[in-house]
Amino acid sequence: MTTGLDGRVVLITGAARGLGLGIATRLAADGAHVVCADLRGADGAVAQIRATTPEAAATAVTVDVTDSVAVDRVVADTAETHGRLDVLVNNAGVAHPVAHLVDTHDSVFDDVFAVNVKGVFFCSRAAARVMKEQRGGRIISMASQAGKGAWPGWGIYSASKACVISLTQAFALELAPYGISVNAICPGTMLTDMTRTGFSAGLEPGQNLDDALRLKAASIPYGRLGTGADVGNLVAWLASDDCSFTTGAAINLTGGETISF
Ligand SMILES: NC(=O)c1ccc[n+]([C@@H]2O[C@H](COP(=O)([O-])OP(=O)(O)OC[C@H]3O[C@@H](n4cnc5c(N)ncnc54)[C@H](O)[C@@H]3O)[C@@H](O)[C@H]2O)c1
Repeated sequence: MTTGLDGRVVLITGAARGLGLGIATRLAADGAHVVCADLRGADGAVAQIRATTPEAAATAVTVDVTDSVAVDRVVADTAETHGRLDVLVNNAGVAHPVAHLVDTHDSVFDDVFAVNVKGVFFCSRAAARVMKEQRGGRIISMASQAGKGAWPGWGIYSASKACVISLTQAFALELAPYGISVNAICPGTMLTDMTRTGFSAGLEPGQNLDDALRLKAASIPYGRLGTGADVGNLVAWLASDDCSFTTGAAINLTGGETISF
């Protein structure tokens, strides 16, 4: 299999850290020009990418994916600067403190849906307009295993990720005639700040974070948590010509976490 992405122009949201940084690092190493977009800016991410791949073509932009005007501008700027937009990776996402739905305030729903659902819609819509014109492209969105099931305390997050899967299917159908594939990735438990924050909040008395993460890793058939590199590997394939007949898919990336009971 080849995943050469030489010269492809890729916009990745939420690329300042975590899985987004892992994706950007991998695609840059494969020869893509990665535009790293994040609410908190992404200069540090670009520096880290260059530390791994000195010849990497990478730039940083600051954008809030909940702001459709700002999203339209970043997508238009990217397409204008580089002449095209080949791949959009909708990676920016937020979780919420663990709470049952009956104890969840309106603002949690609004905040999570603003980033995880509206953000994916705004970015995909803007990218799709460019990709329709150029008659080709790839849209890849980070959903979650949580979007295919439910966990007590994670209801709003799960619902938002189910929406990502649904948007993926609808965009896939509407964009297939233009040669644009649209797919979602459903990670399991990945070793990132989002996971560390979530696990820190749920520690048993006397338990420390490392122990909790080790316990979780031991419960996963592959015996470890997932990484940004794992996600980068899958995105590299979805973005490549080797991914020739896959669209509207919601692909598990869980080390087997979701297949036993
Ligand atoms: N960590 C996991 O176990 C896991 C599992 C399944 C799915 N996911 C999904 O993968 C994606 C990345 O997760 P992560 O663990 O790397 O998260 P993270 O919190 O470590 O990083 C998320 C990044 O998104 C950025 N971001 C947040 N809101 C934004 C906004 N409004 N506009 C632009 N950027 C914004 C943040 O600044 C941050 O850099 C998310 O969509 C998440 O829901 C993560």
